[in-house]
Amino acid sequence: MLLTKYLLKKYSASTKTVDAGREVAKLSKRLFDFDCAKQVLSLNLIEKKVDVNKVEVATIIGDGYGFMSCLLLRSYPHLKIININLGRTLFFDTLAMQSNFPQHQTELLLKEPGSNSLSKITFIAAENYKLLEDIPCQLYINIASMQEMNNDVIRNYFSFIKNNPSEISYFYCCNRKEKRLPDGEVTKILEYPWEEFKVLHKEACPWYQKYPVGHPPFWKCFDGEILHFLAIREVNNKLPIRR
Ligand SMILES: C[S@@+](CC[C@H](N)C(=O)[O-])C[C@H]1O[C@@H](n2cnc3c(N)ncnc32)[C@H](O)[C@@H]1O
Repeated sequence: MLLTKYLLKKYSASTKTVDAGREVAKLSKRLFDFDCAKQVLSLNLIEKKVDVNKVEVATIIGDGYGFMSCLLLRSYPHLKIININLGRTLFFDTLAMQSNFPQHQTELLLKEPGSNSLSKITFIAAENYKLLEDIPCQLYINIASMQEMNNDVIRNYFSFIKNNPSEISYFYCCNRKEKRLPDGEVTKILEYPWEEFKVLHKEACPWYQKYPVGHPPFWKCFDGEILHFLAIREVNNKLPIRR
């Protein structure tokens, strides 16, 4: 817990987001730990470049236990949230979101929404990820999940993000610089199909290089370097970017 506090202080996490994160953790019946703190810091970074008040729909790819989805919705209650994950893990996302927001309408989307309006919280099983292409969305977030996907799945996600009907979409992507998957395939974040995106921010993610352990020296390196990107894909030049 001390190391989590240290991390939040070191990177000047906003009190408002930390409080929202603590509330999410409490309602999800989990500790507000290092994993939660990293997500708070990522949201703070996004807020430096993106006016989230102007975002209508945010999609979290591979949230895992619903924390970023809940953090976003608690911080920006006007948002509609799409949460997409592999079927079994999606179950944990739904649990967290339902215990945080029992009042909201939720839906498991199985086909294109067409002219129907999107529910406040929409879940999509990863095998239906093509549905993303038809839903206007202004902010996509992917933390440590593209690094679990093969190159063809990553390319498809990029294509769906690029083709979504919104004029402007931001993409926050935080993943291993290079990863060898169990089948031997290697993925590299710098070689993701960034064409058509303008990268607004790119660096080694400062809070995602080491994790806390209970014995000296108290921090251990992750298996490889993790980079984070904040990028925008724009159809016209109407950019609500913070400068
Ligand atoms: C290491 S966890 C990261 C969880 C969380 N985003 C975090 O930062 O702690 C990886 C997540 O990616 C999800 N994932 C893997 N393949 C996926 C896919 N094709 N589409 C969506 N999510 C996927 C996994 O189910 C898991 O929830």
